[in-house]
Amino acid sequence: AVNLKGRSFLSLMDFTVEEVRYLLDLSRDLKAKKRMGVYNYLLKGKNIVLLFEKSSTRTRCAFEVAALEEGAHVTFLDSNSSQMGKKESLEDSAKVLGRFFDGIEYRGYKQEVVEDLAKFSGVPVWNGLTDIDHPTQILADFLTIEEHVAKPLNKVKLVFAGDIRNNMSYALMYGAAKTGIHFVGLGPKELNPSQEILDRVREVGKLTGAKIEITDDVNAVAGADVIYTDVWASMGEEDQIPERVRLLTPYKVTMDLVRKTANPDMIFLHCLPAFHDFETKLAKDMKDKGHDIREVTDEVFRSHHSKVFDEAENRMHTIKAVMVATL
Ligand code: CP
Ligand code: NVA
Repeated sequence: AVNLKGRSFLSLMDFTVEEVRYLLDLSRDLKAKKRMGVYNYLLKGKNIVLLFEKSSTRTRCAFEVAALEEGAHVTFLDSNSSQMGKKESLEDSAKVLGRFFDGIEYRGYKQEVVEDLAKFSGVPVWNGLTDIDHPTQILADFLTIEEHVAKPLNKVKLVFAGDIRNNMSYALMYGAAKTGIHFVGLGPKELNPSQEILDRVREVGKLTGAKIEITDDVNAVAGADVIYTDVWASMGEEDQIPERVRLLTPYKVTMDLVRKTANPDMIFLHCLPAFHDFETKLAKDMKDKGHDIREVTDEVFRSHHSKVFDEAENRMHTIKAVMVATL
C-alpha cells in the first residue's frame, strides 16, 4: 500500500507511478466527500505555513481553504513580511519554521530553494510553483482530464501550445511521463525545452509508455484530447513580452487550432491566470502596433471545450490530498 506520510511534494518526478495514482484517487475521494458535506478533520491540530515569493490567487486560496476544511491552522508569509532570504539565511529560516510548523508550502523562483527548505526544515514541504515545476497544478489538471475525457490517462493526447520552456510545460512533461499521457510540446524552436529534462522524462516514459514530443508544426494537434496553454511570459519575465508575442503568435489557441484536432470532444485547459493585463505600457504599445498578446482567444476560453474553472476548483481538492497524504 502507498504511504506518503512525512514525504515532501517537490516534483512528480520524485513519486512512483502508483503514488501519483494514489494522490489522484485520494483527490477524487476528498472531492466527493466535500460534495456530500462530509469532513473528517484529517489535519486537525496541524499548523501550516505558506511562503510566497511570487503572487498567487488559486494556489494560496487552495492551501488555505483545504487546510481549514480539514481542521488545520494556516500562517501566510510573503517575501516583504518575513526575514527569509534577506536578513536570515534560507537554512536558518527553514530550521526555525520546521520547529513551528507541521508542513511548509513554498512558491518562488529556484527549484533548489524548495529542495533546501525540505532538507533543512525536517517537515514535509510542498512546491507551490518554481521556475521549472508546478506539481500541485498537474494533479488538478489530470483530475480534470479524468473527469472530462472518457479515456484512461495513458490513452490521452495532450498538446501544450506556447512557451514550451516554462514551468507548466516541464511540469506537464513530468506528469505525462508518470501517467503515460502522450505529451506534445508545440512551440517555436527558439523556446525548445532543455535536452537534459527531455532525456529524463523520456527515460521515465519508457516505464509507462508515455510519448514526449516537441514540435513547431501546428498540425501536430490532430487527434488531441486536450489543448493546454499558459501565459507567454511567466512571472518575472514580463520584459520579454514583445519577443514572446513575435515567437508565440503562431501558437495562439484559436478556434482554428481547436478545429485542427478534428476531435469534437476535445477540452481546453489553462492553469490560469490568463493574460489580461492590457493596461501596462508594454501591453498598450503592443496593442497599438496591432498585436494581440493573449495566448488564447475569448472564443475558445469561453467555449464548451473550456474546463478551466473546473480545473481551478480541482486545485483545492488535489492540494488537500497532498497535505492529507503527507501529514
Ligand atoms: N494556477 C496557479 O497557480 O494560479 P495562481 O498563480 O493564482 O496560484
Ligand atoms: N507560467 C506561469 C504559471 C502561473 C501559474 C508563471 O510562472 O507565471
